Amino acid sequence: MRVLSGIQPTGRFHWGNYFGAIRQYIDLQGNRDDAFYFIANLHALTTVRDREQLARNTLDAAIDLLALGLDPQRATLFVQSDVPEVSELCWLLMTGTPMGLLERCHAFKDKKARGLTADAGLFTYPVLMAADILIYDSDVVPVGEDQVQHIEVTRDLAASFNHAFAESFVLPKPKVLDTSARVPGIDGEKMSKSYHNTLEVFEEPKALRKKIMRIVTDSRPVEQPKQPESDHLFQLYSLFADQRQCDEMAATYRRGGFGYGEVKKALADLAESYFAEARARRKELEAHPDRVRAILGDGAARARKKAAEVLLRAQVACGVKFAGPAAGVATRVPG
Ligand code: ADP
Ligand code: TRP
Repeated sequence: MRVLSGIQPTGRFHWGNYFGAIRQYIDLQGNRDDAFYFIANLHALTTVRDREQLARNTLDAAIDLLALGLDPQRATLFVQSDVPEVSELCWLLMTGTPMGLLERCHAFKDKKARGLTADAGLFTYPVLMAADILIYDSDVVPVGEDQVQHIEVTRDLAASFNHAFAESFVLPKPKVLDTSARVPGIDGEKMSKSYHNTLEVFEEPKALRKKIMRIVTDSRPVEQPKQPESDHLFQLYSLFADQRQCDEMAATYRRGGFGYGEVKKALADLAESYFAEARARRKELEAHPDRVRAILGDGAARARKKAAEVLLRAQVACGVKFAGPAAGVATRVPG
C-alpha cells in the first residue's frame, strides 16, 4: 500500500503545518517504497513568482522535513519537478477533464468570487495534483480537509480514463488528517500564512518568544476563573504539554488568579524544548546542503522509476505509444 502526499514550498513551516500535516506524515512513514512525500514546487509556482525565493523555499522545505523526522530510509522524499513524467501525465489527463469540474474547484472559484483574475496554472492545478497522485499508483493520500475535493477530482479523472481506454490507474483514497489539530494563530483565528498570524517552527527562539508574548488574550481580571477549552492560548499550550501539564494548566485556568503572561512564558519554554532536537538537526543539515540534495536526488530516482512505469501504461492505453514486446506493458490488473 502506497501513501503519498505533497506539501507546497510557499514559505517557512508554522505550527499549524507541523501539527496539522507534517507530524502526521512522519507518523505514517515506514518503508521507503510505501511512503512517498514530495515538495510541490510546480504548484507553488502558481503563487511564488521569484525564482530565488522558490529555489530557497524548496531546499528549506526539504531541510525542515528531514530535521523534523522525515527519514529517507523509511520514506522517499523528492521534489515534484524532478519527476518530469508528472507533467506529461498531466496533459493526458487534461484532455479528458471537463471544464465544469475545474470551475467548481475551490481555489479557482474563490479567486474568481473575489474578482481576481486566475491563470491557467491555478485553473488546472487539480489536474496536476491528480497526475502527482496517479503516477505512483498511490492508494492513500493524507491531506487536510481543504484538499479532499482535489482527491475526489483525482478519482473522477482516473475512473473516466480507465473507462475510456483501459484499466490504467489505481483509485486513491483520501485520509483526512486529524482536524482536532486545527491550530490557532496569535490572533485566535486559524493559523495561516495568509492571515499573518503564524508562529514558525524554526523561528529564532528570541523572536519566537516575542511573538508568543504578543498572542492576543482577553482583558478579564487576573482573579477571574477562566474556561481553558475555549482559550486559544491554552490550545497552543496543549500542543506541547503532556497530560499532567495540561491538567495542571486547566486547573490553574479554572481557579483564576493567574496572568496570561505566565502561560505565555510556559508555552515559550515548552515549545523551545519541544523543537530543540529538530533545531539542532536543522543546523547540521543546513551546513551540508549537498547531503540534502543527495537525499532528494536519490528520492527522485526512485520516484521516477515508478512514474515511468505508470506513464507508459497510460500512454499505451490512450494510443500515444505502441506497446512493443520490449515495452513489457500490461494494463493494470484491478484488485
Ligand atoms: P497556509 O494556510 O499557512 O498557507 P497550507 O495551506 O500551505 O498553509 O497548509 C499545508 C498543510 O498544513 C495542509 O495540509 C493544512 O491542512 C495544514 N495546516 C495549515 N494550517 C493549519 C492549521 N492552522 N491547523 C492545522 N493544520 C493546518
Ligand atoms: N495541493 C496540496 C496543498 O496545497 C499540495 C499537493 C500537490 C498535494 N500535489 C499533491 C497533496 C498531491 C497531496 C497529493 O496542500
